[in-house]
Amino acid sequence: MRRKIVAGNYKMNLNPAEVAELFDGITDYHFIEENKEMKVFPPFIYLSEALAKLGKSPITVGAQNGYFEAKGAFTGEISMAQLKAFEVESVLVGHSERREIFGEDNAIIKKKVDAALAEGLEVIFCCGEPLEVREEGTQKDFVIKQLEESLFHLSAEQMKNVVIAYEPIWAIGTGKTASSAQADEMHKDIRAAIAGKYSEDVAQSTSILYGGSVKPDNAVELFACENVDGGLVGGACLKAADFIAIANAL
Ligand code: G3H
Repeated sequence: MRRKIVAGNYKMNLNPAEVAELFDGITDYHFIEENKEMKVFPPFIYLSEALAKLGKSPITVGAQNGYFEAKGAFTGEISMAQLKAFEVESVLVGHSERREIFGEDNAIIKKKVDAALAEGLEVIFCCGEPLEVREEGTQKDFVIKQLEESLFHLSAEQMKNVVIAYEPIWAIGTGKTASSAQADEMHKDIRAAIAGKYSEDVAQSTSILYGGSVKPDNAVELFACENVDGGLVGGACLKAADFIAIANAL
C-alpha cells in the first residue's frame, strides 16, 4: 500500500511567536492508519524548535532546501550533510520557487537529489509546468523531462527514498487549484513514466503528492483521486486548524 502524505511547506513565513503557536497546534496530531504521514518544512531557523517539539510525535521534520556540496565556502547555504547531522529526515528539492527565483535548473536539481540521497535524506522531488506550457498543452512532456533530467538516473533502490510532488506553477499561491481530473491525469502520466523507466512495482509504490492551492475545502476531492497520494501544502499549512483539516482529508 502506498504511503499517503500531507506535507506543509512554510516557505519564508512566520515569526517566532507564530511558529511556536503553529507547532503547538499540530504537535498532538496523529493518524490512526499506519500508511499516513504528516511532514513539516519550516524555515531553517525553526528546524531546531520543530525537532524539539515535533520530533517525538509521528510528525516528521524536513528542510525546504539543501546544497549539494558537503561543506566549504558557500555563504548562506546549508548542506545535505548538515541537515542529516541535525536529524532532519527529508528535504524539498526542485520546488518551482527555487527553479524560477533562484535559477535552479534540472542539472543543479539532479546534484541536490544525489547529495540528499547519499546522506540518507528522503527527497520530496517537486515538478510542474508554468501556465504557458499548460496553455500549449505540452505539460506532460515538460514534467516528464524534469523527471528524466533530475531523477531517472537513480536506481530502483534509491527511488524508495523519493516522493514526487506535482505542483503546476499556475496553481501555486494563486487560489487556482488544478481540477481533480487534471491532477489525477498528470499523476497517472508520472506513474506511467516511472513504470516505463523502472517497473510497475516501483511505480505503484512511489507516492505522488499534489501541490497548488490545496485547502480544506478541495482536499477531499483531490485526495480521493486514484493517483493522488496526498498534498504539498503552502499557504493553508500556516494555520494549524486548516492543516489538520487537510490531513483529515487523506
Ligand atoms: O510547496 C507548496 C506549494 O508551493 C503550494 O503552495 O498551497 O500556497 O499554493 P500553495
